[in-house]
Amino acid sequence: MPTRSTGRVVVLVSGAGTNLAALLAAHDEPAWGGRVVGVVSDRAAAGGLALARAAGVPTAVVAPADFTDRPAWDAALAEAVAVFRPDVVVSAGFMRILGEPVLSRFADRVLNTHPALLPAFPGAHGVRDALAYGARVTGCTLHVVDAGVDTGPIIAQAAVDVLPDDDETSLHERIKVAERALVVEWVGRIARGGLRVEGRRVDVLG
Ligand code: GRF
Repeated sequence: MPTRSTGRVVVLVSGAGTNLAALLAAHDEPAWGGRVVGVVSDRAAAGGLALARAAGVPTAVVAPADFTDRPAWDAALAEAVAVFRPDVVVSAGFMRILGEPVLSRFADRVLNTHPALLPAFPGAHGVRDALAYGARVTGCTLHVVDAGVDTGPIIAQAAVDVLPDDDETSLHERIKVAERALVVEWVGRIARGGLRVEGRRVDVLG
């Protein structure tokens, strides 16, 4: 079944939030078609929360330390996201694995951006691993989240050359330039039109 969209986007962040900043800039453009209606973090100190507040977007913090166990945190995260009634949930530098409560509640509507060309270099160190492997081309992937780690159906990818003098920081910065453009374009399309997921095939309807 295709998911109809009213353009409500919730963003999950743990860090600086440069992808979030790009989405917040886009949502000021009426043609983009989406609105970032909420930002949720696992860290009260995440830079992305300050960006959201400055943009007048409501935020919520669901910190694991405030919960007795992982299932309680998973349930609270699902609840915090649901408050914003999202059409699409974007994990943009959210450094935790999303549990069943979030994935079942927003089935096929949770997206993740990853700084490598999946299925190569999944996991928390996609940039470092591509560099260590000696890849000459890496990039970024926007995908639908499933129960695995960076294994869900792929929506879009962009390639980035690895340069001879690259270190992890310089390569990640170039990937993030491509990543921001990819995320803004495809989250906008999905916010406008929705998406349909069948097996590993994703049709973006916007
Ligand atoms: C992005 O490269 C994302 O793919 C990775 O962490 C980075 C987050 O950057 N998981 P930011 O917080 O959006 O600046």
